[in-house]
Amino acid sequence: MDIVLLGSGNVATHLGRALVGAGHRVRQVYSRTEPHARALAEVLGAEAATDLARIDKQADAYIIAVKDDAIDAVAAQLEGVQGMVVHTAGSVDMAVLASHATVYGVLYPLQTFSKAKAVDFSNVPLAVEASQQAVLKRLEALAGSLSDRVFRCDSKQRLSLHVAAVFACNFTNHFYAIAADVLNKHGLDFDLIRPLILETAQKVMAHLPKDVQTGPAVRNDVRTMGKHVELLASDPELERFYRLFSKRIGRFAAKD
Ligand SMILES: NC(=O)c1ccc[n+]([C@@H]2O[C@H](COP(=O)([O-])OP(=O)(O)OC[C@H]3O[C@@H](n4cnc5c(N)ncnc54)[C@H](OP(=O)(O)O)[C@@H]3O)[C@@H](O)[C@H]2O)c1
Repeated sequence: MDIVLLGSGNVATHLGRALVGAGHRVRQVYSRTEPHARALAEVLGAEAATDLARIDKQADAYIIAVKDDAIDAVAAQLEGVQGMVVHTAGSVDMAVLASHATVYGVLYPLQTFSKAKAVDFSNVPLAVEASQQAVLKRLEALAGSLSDRVFRCDSKQRLSLHVAAVFACNFTNHFYAIAADVLNKHGLDFDLIRPLILETAQKVMAHLPKDVQTGPAVRNDVRTMGKHVELLASDPELERFYRLFSKRIGRFAAKD
């Protein structure tokens, strides 16, 4: 397919590479920031564009991978294109594209992307949704050329996927950052805790998270939790988090 990529961030970079790797042609990369558009366009063998009025109107697909809040405004400037217009967001309803395009859909990659880290796109679950059955087939074919894990999902289900992803990935990563801070304050290195992080993630590959919960909260080790709260006393917000999550873990365990 001939594709115009709108955005030059984490998703546009990984998706662009996967598209080219699968034999598609990225005709243009649009970004409002010229050096960003140029850098990604160069990698993908595409033309760089910074003006939405000059977007190529002949492409088969227009993939919008910009900040969620900017999707509507970018799509609004694509009026008149014939190809399908697709966004990549977890929490933006497909309907946002309805007043701007005749054929449209969503291609949501359920993975965490950072430019600095390579991702094997063939393993990335891709949620697809489209305005019409024929468009869905085209989008599924495009997604299927990138990944072995393509599934249909409506906008409400996709929103729940994104909420789950925020807990499983974004919040967890923030908790890693908190762990790094706690260790740092006591002269210890984050490296020490990396095997624990890996083992925790590997365990839930084969078990349900609630079945492999460990720690003082699930054992109801009250004195240990008290000592932890004391250690966190200089950061009242963190202390509150600690109490809140311990309480939740305790409740989950009691339910079983
Ligand atoms: N990162 C992930 O792990 C992930 C996973 C799945 C889905 N997504 C979705 O993919 C989309 C892109 O996310 P990302 O992580 O790639 O974001 P990102 O790395 O922060 O890049 C954001 C892109 O949006 C552009 N942008 C920001 N504000 C804009 C505006 N007002 N007008 C036009 N362009 C604007 C930025 O342009 P400049 O370069 O000029 O700032 C940049 O190209 C989002 O809808 C996100 O929900 C992300």
